[in-house]
Amino acid sequence: MAVPTVRKLFHLLTDDDLSPEQAVALIEFAAQLKAQHRAGEPQHHLLRGKTLAMIFQKPSTRTRVAFEAGMAQLGGHALYLSTADLQLGRGETIADTARVLSRYVDAIMARVFRHADVVELATHASVPVINGLSDLAHPTQGLADMLTIKEHLGGWNGRTLAYLGCANNMAHSLALSGALVGLSVRIATPPGCRPDPEIVQRAQQIAARTGARIEVLTDPIEAVRGVDVVYTDVWVSMGQTVPDEVLAALEAYRVTPAIMAAAAPHAIFMHCLPMFRGQEVTVEVADGPQSVIFDQAENRLHLHKALLVELLSDAGPGVLR
Ligand code: CP
Ligand code: NVA
Repeated sequence: MAVPTVRKLFHLLTDDDLSPEQAVALIEFAAQLKAQHRAGEPQHHLLRGKTLAMIFQKPSTRTRVAFEAGMAQLGGHALYLSTADLQLGRGETIADTARVLSRYVDAIMARVFRHADVVELATHASVPVINGLSDLAHPTQGLADMLTIKEHLGGWNGRTLAYLGCANNMAHSLALSGALVGLSVRIATPPGCRPDPEIVQRAQQIAARTGARIEVLTDPIEAVRGVDVVYTDVWVSMGQTVPDEVLAALEAYRVTPAIMAAAAPHAIFMHCLPMFRGQEVTVEVADGPQSVIFDQAENRLHLHKALLVELLSDAGPGVLR
């Protein structure tokens, strides 16, 4: 009689739920799935009969479509559940929602305002929970961005990414994902917009093992000098407010051709999207030859697929087992 695989319940709430080895292996598997997909090799057998519930407290283009299309390509099914349509919107608890959904589906992805909500979901779910963006972190974006960086720069070791702007969920995930793969990360922000010190400390502890350096700076030019990647994100994230004096200070952090000129000549420009052209980045940079923003968007698909296969089947390399 076949012995069923006993699988440890794994949740991806922040990037560092993965070890450095797991993060690298997951990204390598995503690159493999991408190559197979491009070669037209069938992938439907990988998650046939599996269902992913996707809870959205706020809007999404990339996260929703990359998870939904990814499940379809793998032969599974994804359910889009906006909180307005769920009983959650009428006051049913997150804990009860987690328990009920766990009886129907094989995994839950959630985009939430408060990070504590995705933690609460994971606490009460008996299936894997994936953070599809919270106010603290955006791990599926951070990890997918590491794949994009590897594709464009050939690797992570000895490379540096400078993040300019307000330190938000994206800055946190870049610090953590960068640390996991051995990419150095400099976060440059004005006072009033600093990263969470606990996340920085966690990233620095990981970086000490992987050979990376995680730094928080103030001067945008000092931060981008000689770097391989210049990254920015919106100044005001969904559901947040930024005081006028901080918005005024952020003017110096806009990614302009002059900022790109201070980076290495081969530097790439990255943004998780959606962007406000003219605010955090100029049109020339956003749509210029150094920009890899649409490769980033595409790689969400492949990273999500790798994560889903690892979470829901035994067909992958077994990164999370
Ligand atoms: N980058 C990202 O998560 O985009 P969406 O908000 O469109 O999902
Ligand atoms: N920091 C942005 C990322 C959007 C994908 C936000 O949270 O709105």
